[in-house]
Amino acid sequence: MSRSVADHRPSSNNVASRFIAPRVANTELTPVQLEERATIYRGEQSRAEVDAFRDLRTRVLSVTQPGAITLVAPVSRGSGGSYVARNLATAVSFDESRSALLVDCDLRHPSQHATLKLSPSMGLIDYLEDRNAEADQVIHDTGIARLQLLPAGNSREMASEFLSSPRLRLLLDTVRTRSPNCHIFLDAPPVRGAPDARILSELADIVVLVAGYGRDTPSAIAQAAADFSPGKFAGVVFNEGV
Ligand SMILES: Nc1ncnc2c1ncn2[C@@H]1O[C@H](COP(=O)(O)OP(=O)(O)OP(=O)(O)O)[C@@H](O)[C@H]1O
Ligand SMILES: [Mg+2]
Repeated sequence: MSRSVADHRPSSNNVASRFIAPRVANTELTPVQLEERATIYRGEQSRAEVDAFRDLRTRVLSVTQPGAITLVAPVSRGSGGSYVARNLATAVSFDESRSALLVDCDLRHPSQHATLKLSPSMGLIDYLEDRNAEADQVIHDTGIARLQLLPAGNSREMASEFLSSPRLRLLLDTVRTRSPNCHIFLDAPPVRGAPDARILSELADIVVLVAGYGRDTPSAIAQAAADFSPGKFAGVVFNEGV
């Protein structure tokens, strides 16, 4: 990873440095609870959906290193980007030598905290707005081993420029430094209609586009793909569940 973290490294007594180490949540969710959260679990080997996410995880891991940032961006609202981002991150966390951080970057329409039935008091927006906020205040256990969530936070109309804030880069660099085996997944807002996903792609090592199967047209998919640097563009996931 070429990105330098030296300038942003927190002091050794920073609370954040103790928190971000990969760890297993105290209470793990049961298969029933995971189904209620539209999230895959390891025991379901027979389900095609789990196999599809395992396969997608293998492809992503084959082109990234631990600490990599993967942007998961839906073509349009409801393509299933949040579903794919959450389950791809979960599939990575199946591996006991890795961990994953899911970041809800859809600041206007955040969904991951509600889907995962969490009620975090602070998230990304709060961190970006409050210079005194620490990473440990905004990164939360999910009940899924080795998967943590950075929720969007207290929703309000945000300027897209917020997503290019140096503080966001600082936060991600802190995670990468303290937890070298952590894979970071950015759940982006839809590509169509706002520059946010493209802005977020500047932070990412690779971009995965999510298209609603039979829902997003080939030209909409091609247009969305053209928003990203070809060097980062890893491919399109067709999501049939929407
Ligand atoms: N392949 C799928 N199988 C089952 N349920 C799915 C699938 N894809 C999406 N869903 C469900 O559809 C709903 C909407 O998906 P998602 O959470 O990704 O929405 P969204 O954030 O509005 O969409 P997007 O991120 O594309 O804008 C959720 O309840 C999700 O669990
Ligand atoms: Mg979404």
